Amino acid sequence: MRRIERHFPFPLPFGWFQLCFSDELLAGEIRSLHYFGRDLVLFRGDDGAARCFDAYCPHLGAHLGVGGVLVDGTIRCPFHHWRFDMEGTCVDIPYAKRIPVAAKVETYPTIEKGGIVFAWYHPGDEAPMWELPDIAEYGDDAWTPYERREWIVKSSTQELSENTVDQAHFRYVHGTNTIADTEITTDGPLMKVISRAKVGGADGEADGVIEIDIYGFGFGMTRFTGVVETLVMTSGTPIDEETVHMHLAFTVRKLSDSDSTKGLGKAFIDEIERQFGQDIPIWENKIHHERPVLCDGDGPIGTVRQWAKQFYVEAPS
Ligand code: FES
Ligand SMILES: [Fe+2]
Repeated sequence: MRRIERHFPFPLPFGWFQLCFSDELLAGEIRSLHYFGRDLVLFRGDDGAARCFDAYCPHLGAHLGVGGVLVDGTIRCPFHHWRFDMEGTCVDIPYAKRIPVAAKVETYPTIEKGGIVFAWYHPGDEAPMWELPDIAEYGDDAWTPYERREWIVKSSTQELSENTVDQAHFRYVHGTNTIADTEITTDGPLMKVISRAKVGGADGEADGVIEIDIYGFGFGMTRFTGVVETLVMTSGTPIDEETVHMHLAFTVRKLSDSDSTKGLGKAFIDEIERQFGQDIPIWENKIHHERPVLCDGDGPIGTVRQWAKQFYVEAPS
């Protein structure tokens, strides 16, 4: 048997990645996170905007999330009370006459869209190269508040993206009645996938359309129409090269009575959860074939792989 040392050859990709939901980040709080193989801190400045910094103080390396505090628009290190402004620059050392020029904490561009906090990660510290969309359904009374689910998956963001267009697996893993017909278009970092398939509902089958707008590896918006109109925010944030933190946030267009909205929304979410449960053991135990043997019914996996190359600084090894 072939010995597998790493299941996937991919380095960390760059892009926008979810750090948490907006309502999980309270004013005055410093959250410690671990993504992109790094320790990070996340907090809100006095202006309410989220900021993501490297966790370690450039002085002697204390962790800013363990005993650090937010004071007067700065974050103060617990160890020797150096204070850093919202750009990460040291602005005060209580016992020094001069502040060293290099006294700066690494920062990550951070934004909030549709109730989600995202950071831009790039291994070479390049500035953001694309924007994320506004999410009009978030906070709209015609749509339900987010129902959220999360998973930690031993896989890579590229593998999870490929799965989106792996049209044959929907039938053989998830038991959909037909193999979806998948169309795909790409435009720089954006990818649009449209799949049409019969989906099972309480009253039998309906024509389901799934439209997925993908903004790099980190974030996608999946719209389902057919049985119930649903929008799913799909995030995959690399914890390291072989582990992804997946978040899904569901919102359903409200029907005239709230009980049927809840019932249909719940059935839909249960179905997605069931599908994730089926996918995970496959994802966590497969390997990545650089040259897979594909057949004509497989869907546009090659297109996704071409598109995926742009998100790496180093070549896969
Ligand atoms: S380690 Fe942060 S102030 Fe010294
Ligand atoms: Fe799947």
